[in-house]
Order: sequence, then C-alpha cells, then structure tokens
Amino acid sequence: MRIVVLTGAGISAESGVPTFRDADGLWEGHRVEDVATPAAYDAQPAVVHQFYDARRAALAGVEPNPAHLALARLERAWGDDLLVVTQNIDDLHERAGSTRVLHMHGSLRSALCRACGSRVEWEGDLGHFPPCPACHRLELRPDVVWFGEIPYELDRIFGALERADLFVSVGTSGAVYPAAGFVQAAAAYGARTLELNLEPSEGSHFFDEARHGRAGELVPAWVDELLG
Ligand code: APR
Repeated sequence: MRIVVLTGAGISAESGVPTFRDADGLWEGHRVEDVATPAAYDAQPAVVHQFYDARRAALAGVEPNPAHLALARLERAWGDDLLVVTQNIDDLHERAGSTRVLHMHGSLRSALCRACGSRVEWEGDLGHFPPCPACHRLELRPDVVWFGEIPYELDRIFGALERADLFVSVGTSGAVYPAAGFVQAAAAYGARTLELNLEPSEGSHFFDEARHGRAGELVPAWVDELLG
C-alpha cells in the first residue's frame, strides 16, 4: 500500500510552533501581505527578514512531538511506499527521523539567492544581508514559498498522489491551494482519504474518513493501527 501524508502547521502545534490561522496564529499578529509575498520583500526586506529570522531562531527551542515521531516510525516500517509532503518550513519531520519528506513551501533551514537562484543550507540570520556563498551577491532571501509563488516539488507530489492507495492529511486547515486540492486529486486517482485534524478542515467533506483531535494522539494511534 502506497501512502502519501500531507502535513500542515497543526502537526507542529504541540511542539510549540504557532499555526497560521488558529487563535494566536501567526496571521493574527501579521498581515500576510506584509511578510509573505514577493511584493512585501521588495518593499520592506528588513521586516520580512526579521519575521523569518525570529522563526528560524525559535526552531532551536522546539522538539518533534509524538506525531512527527510516529510518522518517522511508519517510514522505518513502510520504506519507499511512504512519502511525507509538508507545507511546514520547520525541520521537525527530519529531526524526528523522517527522510522521505518534500517541503513544498520551502524551509527555514535554506536560503534562496535572488541573483543566481542557488538554494543553500542556512542556519543563522539573513537580516544582515550576508553574501550568497555561490555568487557573493547580497541577494539571499528566505527559501520560503510566498503567496503568488509556485510551490516546490509539484511534479513529484502529483506523481505520488497518482500512485497512492491512501492519502492522509494531518493538521492543515485546507485553506491554501494547491495543497488543499490534493485530497480531491488523490481520490480521483483512486486513493482512500483520511483527515486527522483538530477540527473539520475547510475540505473535510472531501475525505472518506475524518478523525478530529490532537495530532499528537491521532497520528500515533493511526500508525499503531497500520502496523498492527
Ligand atoms: N493537532 C491537529 N491539528 C491541529 C492542532 C493539533 N494539536 N492544532 C491546530 N490544528 C489544526 C487547526 O485546527 C487548523 O485546521 O491545524 C490547522 C492549521 O491550519 P493553518 O494555520 O491554516 O496552517 P496550514 O494549513 O499549514 O497553512 C497552510 O498557509 O500561510 C500559509 O504557507 C503557510 O504552509 C502554510 C499554509
């Protein structure tokens, strides 16, 4: 059985990483158009860097939770037939031990050079406009997919959805496309679909089955079920 798991901010919530659209979510304190669009970066790069530098620094204080750990455990048993597609820019799947992870919205641990297009591993801040290690220009931006930009890895993701027997969505509100449409694509290709989320997502009715509760409980229970 081939499985694709889509994860969103809700899977990292119990680790202490804020979601976007819940009460106290990131988009309550910020306007999306101020920090998460190419136009925002053109207008106020220092403000945008400050936002992402703070989030990158915060990664040092958080740990994977039982939901991330359960998906890593599933990968060890399921091997190549499990793919995790995450909208998250944190690195908690990797730190839990998952290796088959596609970051469709980019990663805080990466910087993108606007001059040469290089994507380079990045640990520290970007707000002091450091030079690109490849071309030495001062054009490094967060390697994060902003509104109006095309997500990464869509060919591989749709290829995996086409082959999937089971599609599981964890901790995402279903508000942002194209990820919000993966459930319908997977179903059209013949997969069974399961939602694991704190509350019904916007697309909850598209799923064959929906379980509502905390990811830290639902995901380990679902993995236990699969592994028998
Ligand atoms: N367990 C499970 N689900 C949870 C938990 C939890 N402990 N806490 C919150 N959730 C759910 C919320 O109920 C909500 O439906 O996680 C979802 C989080 O939704 P969003 O904040 O909208 O995050 P996400 O769906 O990942 O956002 C998609 O929007 O702005 C962008 O690029 C950003 O990747 C992000 C995209």
